[in-house]
Parts: sequence; structure tokens; C-alpha cells
Amino acid sequence: MASIDPVDTGVESIDVEHRRIAALFTLLHDALEVPDFRTARDLHATLTERLDEHFRREEDVLVRYGYPDAKGVGFEHRAAMGILAEFGTALDRKRPGECRVILNEVLYRFLNCVYADLSCMQYLMKLGVDPANLMRA
Ligand SMILES: [Fe+2]
Repeated sequence: MASIDPVDTGVESIDVEHRRIAALFTLLHDALEVPDFRTARDLHATLTERLDEHFRREEDVLVRYGYPDAKGVGFEHRAAMGILAEFGTALDRKRPGECRVILNEVLYRFLNCVYADLSCMQYLMKLGVDPANLMRA
């Protein structure tokens, strides 16, 4: 699979995370070519952990600064995570074709979330939030 280049939000700390997560999608897609799925399982676990952590940190920031659609963003994040869990079930069934379809759906949702981040970041910048401190705990 060709590398994925998510759109920049203008906030370096977030863009770095988006690029790292996108790279995991590429590795996971390619790992489906290996029949025993061992690497795919490891990558799925890593992607699940990193994506969930990324989404939760973004949601915390949006709630902290009163973003009007923070609940909607959270809903989209949880939907993507739910489909990523379905991908894990498809891995257990060892059906590479099904896995690819589901993984593409998760990737599509992730990239949509990145686009949604653009308006979230614009909102935060208008509030005068310092981008350098945005994703720190
Ligand atoms: Fe994001």
C-alpha cells in the first residue's frame, strides 16, 4: 500500500501523531499479505492503543476549551474504534479480504477525523491557545 499523507492541521504535535498513525495503517495493510497474521495482530494492537490514546487526548482538549461539537467528535472517534475492533475479529477469522475492507473503512474514518481536526484547531487558535502546549497532558 502506498504511504498515506494526512492533511496538516497546522499543529505540529498533532500532525506528527497523524503521520505516525497513518504509517501504522500502511504497515498493517501490508502485513495482511503474511498468512499467519502474527505481525498483523501485533500491529492491530499497537494501532488500537495509539489511535485510542490520540483520540482521547484530542477529546480532552476539545472538552477543556469548550469546543461546541466535542460530543460529535467523540462519537466519530468511538465509531472508528468500534470498526477497528471489528477488524480484530476479522483477523481472528483469518479472512484477509474482509480484513482489507474493514481496514479501509477505519482508514477512511480516521482521515475524516483528521479533516474534522482542521476546524477544531481553527477554533482553538481563535481562542489564542498555544499550539505547542495543545497535546501535552
Ligand atoms: Fe486527530
